[in-house]
Amino acid sequence: MKMAKEKFYITTPIYYPSDKLHIGHSYCTVAADTIARYKRAQGYDVMFLTGTDEHGQKIQRIAQERGVSPQEYVDNIVKGIKDLWKMLDITNDRFIRTTDEMHVKAVQKIFNTLYEKGDIYKSEYEGWYCTPCESFWTEHQLVDGKCPDCGRSVEKTKEESYFFRLSKYQDRLIDLIKNNPDFLQPSIRQNEMLNNFLIPGLEDLCVSRTSFDWGIPVEFDPKHVVYVWLDALTNYINALGAFSDDDADFKKYWPADVHLVGKEIVRFHSIIWPAMLMALDLPLPKQVYGHGWLLLDGGKMSKSKGNVVDPVTLINKYGVDAIRYFLMREMPFGADGVFNNEALINRINSDLANDLGNLVSRTVSMVEKYFGGTVTNKAVCEDVDNELITLANETPAKVEELMDSFQFSQALAEIWKLISRTNKYIDETMPWALSKEEAKKDRLQTVMYNLCEAIRIAAELIAPVMTRTTPAILMQIGAKERGWNSAKTWGIQESFTVTKGDVLFPRIDVEAELKAIEEEAAKAKEAQIEKPESKEEITIDDFCKTELRVAKVIACEKIKKAKKLLKLQLDLGYEKRQVVSGIAQYYEPDDLIGKKVVIVANLKPVKLCGEDSFGMILCAANDNQLSIVSPSDDMEIGSEVR
Ligand code: MSP
Repeated sequence: MKMAKEKFYITTPIYYPSDKLHIGHSYCTVAADTIARYKRAQGYDVMFLTGTDEHGQKIQRIAQERGVSPQEYVDNIVKGIKDLWKMLDITNDRFIRTTDEMHVKAVQKIFNTLYEKGDIYKSEYEGWYCTPCESFWTEHQLVDGKCPDCGRSVEKTKEESYFFRLSKYQDRLIDLIKNNPDFLQPSIRQNEMLNNFLIPGLEDLCVSRTSFDWGIPVEFDPKHVVYVWLDALTNYINALGAFSDDDADFKKYWPADVHLVGKEIVRFHSIIWPAMLMALDLPLPKQVYGHGWLLLDGGKMSKSKGNVVDPVTLINKYGVDAIRYFLMREMPFGADGVFNNEALINRINSDLANDLGNLVSRTVSMVEKYFGGTVTNKAVCEDVDNELITLANETPAKVEELMDSFQFSQALAEIWKLISRTNKYIDETMPWALSKEEAKKDRLQTVMYNLCEAIRIAAELIAPVMTRTTPAILMQIGAKERGWNSAKTWGIQESFTVTKGDVLFPRIDVEAELKAIEEEAAKAKEAQIEKPESKEEITIDDFCKTELRVAKVIACEKIKKAKKLLKLQLDLGYEKRQVVSGIAQYYEPDDLIGKKVVIVANLKPVKLCGEDSFGMILCAANDNQLSIVSPSDDMEIGSEVR
């Protein structure tokens, strides 16, 4: 009797439709795809889900700003997201949109069920809301009055709302995380959740909004829309047909084997989501895995910071496999890692072009040169072969163990040990020397066979990560694609007939490439600068009403009560005066003493934090930078600026 395949259900978070998904977003999806491919290759019946999270205040506001309906706005963007996943060779089995009718209906049923069970009740919400994160916060959770997740400003909201009895599930959640260590991984996330949220105590969660309408209406009270996180989290079951007439997939695949999520949304997945499932009497996911962030210049990539790296540009430049390899190899899954172009190019040159690409091209060339393209195992063995064969035999089990715990970087490192060992085998066996002796022909053929076989095994093992390189290598060495398990058997193929192909990974000139990248980035930055909104036109007479003068800073100090302000004493030659300026985040007081500045000398005096200010210092400024406008040192103080 044929045994049914074991199921494996994996999800990524559903993405907010943003104009451009960056390489950080691609990270989670590539990791999930790697696991999905690996599990399929092992024979599992895999369900791999991703999608888009399309409701909420943030989307409604952006759509409004652009003068389109929220639906039009998201429709356009979702297409781009799907295209990106295609470019990255993502093999999701399903793509859910929270605007899909099936999802909308299921969310309404879930809300009704929870209400009928008494786990959702009506009250009034008064507190803080971070719109970019779509998160509610209590006063004591704010950090310096800002959102503790993203550091941005929060808005006070007060509205009639429905609440989910999250507090009721506190003890069960503590128990879940403490006594079932597999549920939340890596283990550092367990303490984060326990210490930051569960042990201090959970409050009931506001799960409806009335101040905007881009969301799923509560069926029995339609002026409310369902809170976007409650809507979004249920995608994991709704995509399988839960709460619909066709729930066969739900029965088959739920509970999820793993929800892969970024560390900042672990809270939603390991507290709110299991509590909702408990309330619905449904099984909990087997694991929530909170991976780290891909950082750029020490910070999280974000469009508002302008430091995003575009995956499409990278794929077009270096190829999809180089990018997938880099993402999975460069940083241990679970920890944060830094993206930078130099590290990427170095990986391509050393691991891909030198180690792997050279191994394949040297081997193929030698098989062609010495044997006209075909080699068989002549079994003329020497001790040196054993080391290679033993390593090739041991590698798949090691890789499996690491892949099972999502340690992609180490799994690839193990495969690269085999690749390096195979390169070393060429140096040790010196095929060029063997080729000179007729009597060594069979030994040479055995060496060539061993090389092809080691390459075949490595190629099968990299397949979950490097989707295009595996078939390209197997084609060049003349091996059939047999799948993961074939990597566990040395000698499965009797002979190899090679075909020279394209260079797998061309070497990159690091310096020239980095220079070109810098130039492109500078151009792109220039092109990105939007025309600011112009102010009303003025005449020269209007301008002449402003008296601008050169002054010298003779003393400067911080103002205790105001973090942003400095108090400066200025010498204008004909008089001395005090000016208070909001530049403390950019300048140390001592650095300013002696500096020439330009001030608006005829500005009406004001009091700032109790200090008199007679004028204003001119600065060039944008959201992230500030620089005092300063004339040359020899400019006489008191001179007019006109
Ligand atoms: N819509 C929510 C998820 C709802 S799931 C029920 C959301 N969307 S998101 O688009 O902001 O983020 C999606 C995923 O991308 C998150 O897991 C997030 O951690 C991940 N990443 C976004 N930037 C990232 C990096 N720079 N590095 C790694 N992952 C990052 O949150």
